[in-house]
Amino acid sequence: MPLLAVVLAYLIGSLSFAVLVSRTLGLDDPRTYGSGNPGATNVLRSGSKAAAVATLVLDAAKGWLPVALVRWWGKPYGLEEGTLALVGLAAFLGHLWPVFFRFQGGKGVATALGVLLGVSGWLGLAVALTWVLVALVSSYSSLAALIAAVCAPAYYLLLDGVLWNADSRIAVAIGAMALLLIWRHQENIERLLQGTESRLGQSSKGGS
Ligand code: G3P
Repeated sequence: MPLLAVVLAYLIGSLSFAVLVSRTLGLDDPRTYGSGNPGATNVLRSGSKAAAVATLVLDAAKGWLPVALVRWWGKPYGLEEGTLALVGLAAFLGHLWPVFFRFQGGKGVATALGVLLGVSGWLGLAVALTWVLVALVSSYSSLAALIAAVCAPAYYLLLDGVLWNADSRIAVAIGAMALLLIWRHQENIERLLQGTESRLGQSSKGGS
């Protein structure tokens, strides 16, 4: 049962909604413009806010759903915190390396947020607020994602004792997601350091 849950989570995570939403709305494939990343930030560069919001919500939902299902209904089926951690990680890995899209996936920001919301609404909210604050101040989606990723494991552990008893397996999964997310942003980090990173909402013609 735990293995089935993990495999299903990976398959759900493999649905690249940036590509699917763009296809459905008749927009260009996000892998062909801007940063080339199949994610909400790059879809926004198409000029369609609706497509970007739909991508963000659906990419987050595919991280949230498997974790929430295990959390709410997993116990009678023997699915405990260890499975919850693996299921969240599997959905995130599906987004990064989607089996349906030749393993060419995105950077995992929205999906990681969904996983965190599934673990705890408060944790997800704290990380989302961090992203929003940094994005508002800097206008860089990537910088907001990087700072939120660093904060996520810290928030999980800091809130331990206040809202929940932290589980070491979930903490490791959140830490692993944060590291992979940062690794996936290597090019963004280089552009941020060079001052060439495009700002939020800048069109695909304005650079990567
Ligand atoms: O959601 C990914 C974001 O942090 C960066 O996206 O397209 O600017 O590489 P992008």
